[in-house]
Amino acid sequence: MRMLLPTLLLLATGTASATQAPIAMDDQSQLNVPGSQATPQFAPPSENDIPDNAFGKMVREGHALFVDTRRLMPEAVGNGMNCSNCHLDQGRLAHSAPLWGAYPMYPAYRKKNDKVNTFAERIQGCFQFSMNGKPPAADSPQMTALSVYAYWLSTKAPTGVEIAGRGYPEVPQPKGGYDFARGQQVYREQCAICHGDNGEGQKVAGEYVMPPLWGKDSYNWGAGMHRINTAASFIKHNMPLGKAGSLSDQQAWDVAAWVNRHERPQDPRLVEGSVEKTRLKFHANDGINLYGQKVEGVLIGQGSGN
Ligand code: HEC
Ligand code: HEC
Repeated sequence: MRMLLPTLLLLATGTASATQAPIAMDDQSQLNVPGSQATPQFAPPSENDIPDNAFGKMVREGHALFVDTRRLMPEAVGNGMNCSNCHLDQGRLAHSAPLWGAYPMYPAYRKKNDKVNTFAERIQGCFQFSMNGKPPAADSPQMTALSVYAYWLSTKAPTGVEIAGRGYPEVPQPKGGYDFARGQQVYREQCAICHGDNGEGQKVAGEYVMPPLWGKDSYNWGAGMHRINTAASFIKHNMPLGKAGSLSDQQAWDVAAWVNRHERPQDPRLVEGSVEKTRLKFHANDGINLYGQKVEGVLIGQGSGN
């Protein structure tokens, strides 16, 4: 599989030599970005560079949808989130799964749905799970706008090359695992002030100004963020907001486990109404997660009703 593209290229150009490094091809169940803190070299264009033409207009529309998703696309979003809540600085921030690290890496095979995904299909995944919603059609104007925004942010980035700053670089699991009680303490001391005592976020005039971390308006049980390892990586590199990188690996894992032991909307792939069947099919081999497990005698993954 990994050899397919280089072989095709060889046939097409006739010049590639066998010693050339193979073109990087993503083969992801989840993104596995090495923990390297390599300094990102890539800088996306600035807002002033948006051209004053029809293309630039689409860039602006895509940007608006990315940062104000819930308000502008109520039919597609089923929770309280915007894309930029997890892809910080409007999809620009390195180590926050920036759009410029992603766009040039698609199409890519994803084990999650067992097929080669176009960029639009990858975004549809975030709509279905992270936004707990109904993805817009691949050829819809909104999807085009979101893709145009990502394409524009990637201006001058190489294609098919993993660039430093992509994804949320992995934070290895500490030797002793994780601990809910310690996680709860980190949460109370460093997170609750913004995300609320019960992970409910904060609203002003009916709109979220601080996103929820669990409960009915948060990401669902099928989202990448439900994995403790993925949440630990996001948190370590991005939270507490304004103090990114200040938590130890242990604190990041502990608080990620605390966040992800709480209920949230059901995995939309629920198999025959059974959490156990869904766990076996979709969660048993998906990183470190609590879906379908018992914590203090309570089955996790029943889906939030509140
Ligand atoms: C709850 C947090 C969350 C929200 C909200 C969210 N995403 Fe994501 N997104 C993730 C995570 C986590 C990953 C990486 C998944 C993995 O490791 O498997 C990801 C991955 C991606 C990728 C692929 C990144 C790469 O480098 O391959 C794209 C593109 C993307 N998201 C776009 C979007 C868009 C567009 C929206 C809004 C419609 C959105 N996301 C909303 C958490 C989120
Ligand atoms: C100063 C306020 C603040 C603090 C403190 C803070 N956060 Fe956040 N957090 C935010 C904001 C705001 C966002 C969304 C970022 C955006 O939209 O640009 C966010 C996003 C997130 C997200 C992804 C979006 C979601 O709702 O799931 C997670 C997970 C998260 N924070 C966890 C934490 C954890 C864990 C801590 C404590 C270690 C923490 N945060 C501390 C403000 C804060």
